[in-house]
Amino acid sequence: MELIKEDDGLEPVSPTGQYFNSKVMSVSVLGILELEIPIDDSQAMALIKDVFLPINPRFSSIMVIGKKGARKWKKVEVEVENHVHVPSFSSPKGSSSPSENDSFLKSYISQIAKQPFPQGQPLWEVHIIKCPTSEAQGTVIFKLHHALGDGYSLVGALLSCLQRADDPSLPVTFPSVNKFSSANNDDRNIGLPKVVSGCFLPLVNTVRDFGGSVLKSTCFKDDLSPIRCGLESFRPFSLSAISFSLDRIKEIKSRLRVTINDVITGVIFLATRLYMQRGSPNSNLSSNSTALVLLNTRNLRDYKSVKDMVRPNSESPWGNNFAFLHVPIPKVKPSDSEFSNPLKFVHKAREAIKRKQSSFGVVLTGKLLEMMKKCRNPEVVARHINRTMRNSSMIISNVIGPMEKLSMANHPIKGMYFTVTGTPETLQVTMISYAGNLRVVVRAEQGFIDSELYTRSLHDALDMILHDACGKQ
Ligand SMILES: *[C@@H]1O[C@H](CO)[C@@H](O)[C@H](O)[C@H]1NC(C)=O
Ligand SMILES: *[C@@H]1O[C@H](CO)[C@@H](O)[C@H](O)[C@H]1NC(C)=O
Ligand SMILES: *[C@@H]1O[C@H](CO)[C@@H](O)[C@H](O)[C@H]1NC(C)=O
Ligand SMILES: *[C@@H]1O[C@H](CO)[C@@H](O)[C@H](O)[C@H]1NC(C)=O
Ligand SMILES: *[C@@H]1O[C@H](CO)[C@@H](O)[C@H](O)[C@H]1NC(C)=O
Repeated sequence: MELIKEDDGLEPVSPTGQYFNSKVMSVSVLGILELEIPIDDSQAMALIKDVFLPINPRFSSIMVIGKKGARKWKKVEVEVENHVHVPSFSSPKGSSSPSENDSFLKSYISQIAKQPFPQGQPLWEVHIIKCPTSEAQGTVIFKLHHALGDGYSLVGALLSCLQRADDPSLPVTFPSVNKFSSANNDDRNIGLPKVVSGCFLPLVNTVRDFGGSVLKSTCFKDDLSPIRCGLESFRPFSLSAISFSLDRIKEIKSRLRVTINDVITGVIFLATRLYMQRGSPNSNLSSNSTALVLLNTRNLRDYKSVKDMVRPNSESPWGNNFAFLHVPIPKVKPSDSEFSNPLKFVHKAREAIKRKQSSFGVVLTGKLLEMMKKCRNPEVVARHINRTMRNSSMIISNVIGPMEKLSMANHPIKGMYFTVTGTPETLQVTMISYAGNLRVVVRAEQGFIDSELYTRSLHDALDMILHDACGKQ
């Protein structure tokens, strides 16, 4: 990183931004848009210059080390051509099958996820993939370094490059956070505990509001299992994205009187135990396995538009605001090889999340917070985050997306999803809702997790829960 003498007036990099861009970890978000029509990229450069770059000055800044070693953002001239990649794909045989194109896309994503950003230029890239796949006529991938902002800011930034497909002049709307996290739809009075029970969604307090007395580390190391190999390396992964209908999930939610997040977490937990049993029939289904749920700690009630986020004194400032919540994956008794009570997973998820909400010391990995407060060395904190992730079995995170169908430069968007790269865990599940669907993305370590089997288990878990909750197939 470049050292500069004069750093007056430069914006400091947030602490989280520093952990995410350290020697220990370099974490990025990949946002993937699937387009309904073939890509005409003649507008791409103009769109990036006129719409994307102005969203936030960090998109045209690099990280530098200023006086006293503090990291700052320094504005630079952006050479847009260096950030936009248009790979070509031609099948060896000339005529290719959809599955060949699908695997080209998958391996391309896996490859760009591994590659570090080039030094000395702003930390984002756009990849335009014209090759049609079974999901889309074309795919656009945004690779954004996590130091630029949290998932919430970055997804917000992406969305502000898009318009509504039905009428570009209308505003994009989001389901209210309340709907996702409250068991009762018309509950207007969202006190602190209810919002916290949303689990993935904004906590009402910011990190600094947590008192010192409750800070206590609660980390153990999970057992080794078919989803946790415990090896210390960043290995290539495979990505699989599946879709659930939000209506189905809402149906279960109303029947069981729980939240949407409880249902989703329950489905993921059941799927994970099903996967363990199917993938390795002798595996211990009572293993100590925890999911690390990424929480957004923003102080807000509803999704804010990016314009509001970058406004001075905004109550939901742009940046990195997150914490971890450790949630145990329910155990299955050896005698219950049939998984006779799928609803148990939803109720257990709900219980665990509610229990955590009542003691904030447990909600947030206290040691991490303490370090963030006291420790000036981002490498040390990054190492701690690194180990926290490695000690657990999986990571789950969720972003609420738009309700309407959107388009980008007149290309209607069929689907969208995101994943986080550069973190050390073996299994990661990320979710975004879009136009009536919930896209669930599984990032799994290649050679250790069978991601096909895992996604099949997700489908089966939803079916089992739907069947038992609503009496449907
Ligand atoms: C696969 O991609 C190639 C190159 O873009 C394209 O010519 C071909 O039609 C695609 N195949 C299918 C089945 O979509
Ligand atoms: C971070 O985690 C990776 C994978 O677990 C490990 O190889 C690396 O040594 C860790 N780095 C530090 C500094 O702890
Ligand atoms: C399964 O894991 C749990 C928790 O670690 C342990 O208590 C139990 O003994 C294990 N069971 C077997 C059969 O290994
Ligand atoms: C499993 O977790 C429980 C607490 O949840 C702990 O008491 C126990 O020692 C753990 N077992 C192993 C083998 O780590
Ligand atoms: C990871 O687990 C080990 C062994 O239980 C423990 O000593 C360490 O403190 C844990 N680290 C974190 C960051 O949770």
